[in-house]
Amino acid sequence: MIKNIAVLTSGGDAPGMNAAIRSVVRCGISMGWNTFGVRNGFKGLINGQFEALGTRDVGGILQTGGTMLGSARCEEFKTLEGRELAMRNLYQKGVDALVVIGGNGSQTGAHELSKLGFPVVGVASTIDNDLVGSDITIGVDTALNIALEAIDRLKVTASSHQRAFIVEVMGRNCGYLALMAGLAGGAEAITLPEIKTDPEGIAAKLRQSYDHGKYHALIVAAEGAEYNAEALTEFFNEHKERLGFSVRSTTLGHVQRGGSPGASDRILASKLGKGAVDAIAREEFGVLVGLKNNTVSTTPYEEITGKTKELDKELFELARILD
Ligand code: F6P
Repeated sequence: MIKNIAVLTSGGDAPGMNAAIRSVVRCGISMGWNTFGVRNGFKGLINGQFEALGTRDVGGILQTGGTMLGSARCEEFKTLEGRELAMRNLYQKGVDALVVIGGNGSQTGAHELSKLGFPVVGVASTIDNDLVGSDITIGVDTALNIALEAIDRLKVTASSHQRAFIVEVMGRNCGYLALMAGLAGGAEAITLPEIKTDPEGIAAKLRQSYDHGKYHALIVAAEGAEYNAEALTEFFNEHKERLGFSVRSTTLGHVQRGGSPGASDRILASKLGKGAVDAIAREEFGVLVGLKNNTVSTTPYEEITGKTKELDKELFELARILD
């Protein structure tokens, strides 16, 4: 029977992680369980950084970005010794199940812990939206809106100066954020890790737009694309005579991660946190809780780790038609 659960956040923070912690803690308490927070992700598991969390301890965090528990990327947890130490600490604290809120790398770590026999449930949270097992992950929507706000602003200044702007968005090896930001921001071109880019084609398109009297051009580049902002800027600078536009580049970086979560992320996080508690109550472990076809669902870790979500190529085509 479950008495004590623990929750941690791991990997890159994502807007909505706090809402997920709050949901796990409050739903856990409503089941009559004791709830613990673990500081600084897997590192805190290894260092035994547990703290009891009550209902009020997770008050006032729904609207805040980041994670109240802290997060870390932990090399030691990648070793068997590190994971065994973490597991000993969990047993010592009397923890019956652990909730891991995080993205691809974090869920791979959680899977390793679950392979050692510890009851783990994951909650899909990353701005990259690269996790198989959830159509959308906590933090993506807010990060996307932050990127869009930047794109809209850049278009204004680009028009004033007849410039082309390259905006680089995060996403690691997944082009989801770049594709959606490009589609919603009306980009002239999008570069993605999943699709080969012909920089000559982009240059020709920019020239054509310039010749047709367009005042600005916007290219969204994924950080993981072969032609990320740096590579594309270098290419355009080499060929600036025939572009028409002069080129500027902006890398949004961690700005995308720091925002206050929007309504969608708060609601998604609240639902998935409850989904994790429900999975624990069913004693369904070694699974990721995500949203599939608008329904909170669980997927076994075996089916998700080591994989990256496929890009929706039809949306890429749509962005091409609309630009
Ligand atoms: O996984 C989230 C993410 O923001 C990626 O998009 C990015 O590549 C990476 O984390 C950056 O990592 P760090 O915060 O460790 O620099």
